[in-house]
Amino acid sequence: VDRSSLSRGALIVFEGLDRSGKTSQSARLVSFLKEKGVPVEAWRFPDRSTRVGQMISAYLANESQLDDRTIHLLFSANRWEKRVQMESKLRSGTSLVVDRYSYSGVAFSSAKGLDIDWCKAPEVGLIAPDLVLFLDVPPERAAERGGYGTERYEQLEFQKKVAQYYSMLRDPTWEIVDGCLTVEGIEEKLRGLVSECIDTCQKGKPVTNLWP
Ligand code: TMP
Repeated sequence: VDRSSLSRGALIVFEGLDRSGKTSQSARLVSFLKEKGVPVEAWRFPDRSTRVGQMISAYLANESQLDDRTIHLLFSANRWEKRVQMESKLRSGTSLVVDRYSYSGVAFSSAKGLDIDWCKAPEVGLIAPDLVLFLDVPPERAAERGGYGTERYEQLEFQKKVAQYYSMLRDPTWEIVDGCLTVEGIEEKLRGLVSECIDTCQKGKPVTNLWP
């Protein structure tokens, strides 16, 4: 028996508007899994630690200006530079909980007016998530939450457009979770969904690529 194809980790992605609760829920989920002894790492995109990530970070802070297609490709490159490591982690049995992924890439850039298929193209061949947890919060509610920061994109009208594009990207790997429930209520739902997904991957579900 080729053990290398068995017992792989799961690729679990959080998506949602800015201020939808992704970052705190992903942190809570990762500590829960660690306590249960599940090998897991918390990842996020953009990964601001790389050189590409630093260019993205400067753009988001309005410290640099970039053409819309250029920044789109940088976000994509930032995922590509992590792909090999991502695959080896998954194959060695480590699950990854990732705060934002290709869906953010496509939804945010399409919301600026770029063609959706053009936006998807550079994402083709990245690893497909096993589960996408979409924290569903109406843009108005998200905007009320402690206010937006000063980063680019953190504006109500723009977030409304992003929400529309997210809804076009939904596929069967998505679970829509009501992000207006209590923190504990959301956490409970996520735990159930994730445990099931990790089981399926352990049983040898193949690793596939975007778009499914
Ligand atoms: P963050 O707040 O989760 O660090 O994300 C920073 C911003 O970048 C957020 O407004 C969403 C946006 N974004 C994109 O436009 N394209 C992408 O590919 C990703 C990952 C994020």
